[in-house]
Amino acid sequence: MNREDFNKSMCSAFILSALGLPLLSTSCSKSEEIPGSGEFDEILLEQGIKREGNTLTISMDHSKFQELKTPGNFINDLENGVLVLRKDAESIIAVSNCCPHQGSRSRWQYLGEGKFLCTNHGNRFDTGEGNTAACNSNRTSGNLKQYPASFEEAVITIDLS
Ligand code: FES
Repeated sequence: MNREDFNKSMCSAFILSALGLPLLSTSCSKSEEIPGSGEFDEILLEQGIKREGNTLTISMDHSKFQELKTPGNFINDLENGVLVLRKDAESIIAVSNCCPHQGSRSRWQYLGEGKFLCTNHGNRFDTGEGNTAACNSNRTSGNLKQYPASFEEAVITIDLS
């Protein structure tokens, strides 16, 4: 659900309350109650990131992730073990942040054209299909493990399974 759908689905009384406007009615009708997914969207709005099972969702409207709106920028999500790259205007790439060489997760630089450098020992890795170099396998080249990723408006969805 995107922000617009979320706003449409929210109880109008809740919205008025959040805006500090007086309420004519203090309760929501059954049909206007915040749906079960509302809690999910509130977390996404507040924290900008949410994981449910193997699905990771990131809001580029959140201040922590706005940089992903600009091609060439990436984030390193250490908690979920993933590098998320805004490769260009149309594509998001998500790859494992575990370096195939010796497993470092926090020393990444983006070199452009889908290539990352691990500054721990200076090895470069790609983000293409096939020739996947497994985490901590002593490989010094190849592709980082890729996860299916897409985005719609400002919401990125990554399948970490
Ligand atoms: S751990 Fe990344 S290059 Fe060695």
